[in-house]
Amino acid sequence: MAVQHFLTLMDLGKDEVLGIVQRAIALKKAASPSKDTLEGQTLAMIFDKSSTRTRVAFEVAMTQLGGSSLFLSNKDSQQGRGETIEDSARVLSRMVDCIAIRTYEHSTLERFAEFSTVPVINALTDSFHPCQLLADMQTFIEHRGDISGRTVAWVGDGNNMCQSYINAAEVFDFELKIACPEGFEPDASLLATHKDRVQIVQQPEQAVSHADLVVTDVWASMGQEQEQEQRKSSFEPYQVNRDLMSLANNKALFMHCLPAHRGEEVSAPLLDDPDTLVWEEAENRMHSQKALLEFLCNR
Ligand code: CP
Ligand code: NVA
Repeated sequence: MAVQHFLTLMDLGKDEVLGIVQRAIALKKAASPSKDTLEGQTLAMIFDKSSTRTRVAFEVAMTQLGGSSLFLSNKDSQQGRGETIEDSARVLSRMVDCIAIRTYEHSTLERFAEFSTVPVINALTDSFHPCQLLADMQTFIEHRGDISGRTVAWVGDGNNMCQSYINAAEVFDFELKIACPEGFEPDASLLATHKDRVQIVQQPEQAVSHADLVVTDVWASMGQEQEQEQRKSSFEPYQVNRDLMSLANNKALFMHCLPAHRGEEVSAPLLDDPDTLVWEEAENRMHSQKALLEFLCNR
C-alpha cells in the first residue's frame, strides 16, 4: 500500500477526515488516559519556522499515546547546512515512523514526501495549514454540531489558513465567503477549483452576514514580517470585532488559529471575551493531532 501523507486536507477521503475529527472528539472525552496506540513509534519534527501549538501538540500527543518525538531545527541539522531535501527524507524515513514538517514553500514539503517512505504531515507551509483545520472543525462540531450546509466567513488575508478553509469547504460541505483586501486574495486556481462553494466578497460585512462561523488570522504571516507595517493600512477595515460579529448569525462562533495580534486582525475585547472558544480551539490541536497520528501511523 502506498504511504499516506497529509500535505493538505484533500489528501484523504472525506470520510477519513470526518473520522479523524470524530476520533479526536472521542479521545478528548475519554476519562482515562489514552491507550498506547503509538507505542514504540517515533515522530520527527522538522520546523523551519517558529511554533508553539503545533509543536507542543505533536510532542504531547506522541508521549500520551506511548510513542516519542524528536525536534529538528535547521540550525542544527545537516539539512540546514545544505543536505538535500531528498537525501534527508530518504535517511530520516528509515529511522522514524512519521515526519511532521513546517516550512516555507509547499513544494519543499511535496519533495520531501515524494522521497519519504513514512507518512509526512504538513505542520504549516506558506500555502496550507491542514492540521489547524482538523482542530477548528472539531471545535465547531463540538459546540454547534454538523458544519455541513453552514456558512463560514473568512475575514483577512488570503493566506495558508484561508486556503485550508477553501479545502475544508469542500471536505466538510460548507459555504465559504472570503473578504480580503484587493491584491491579497487566495490562489486563483484554488478558488476556481472550489468556485461552487467559495465566494470572494468585497466587504467584511458581506462575508459575515448569515455566517455561523467567523474566522481570521494575522495580516502578515511568518516570512512576511518585513511587510507588516505596509500591510496594516490595507487590512485596517478587516478587523474582526464585536460590531462585526453582531452582523453574523445569532450563535455564530469566532475562531483564530493563534498567535493573535490584539488590535489588528482581532479586537482585544473579542479575543478576551470570557466565552471565547479560541483557547479550546488551541487545545483541540492536541486531540486532533493524536487522531491524525493514529490514522497515519497505524494503517
Ligand atoms: N496555530 C498554530 O499553528 O500555532 P503555532 O504557530 O504556535 O504552532
Ligand atoms: N498564517 C499564519 C498562521 C500561523 C499559525 C502564519 O503562517 O504565520
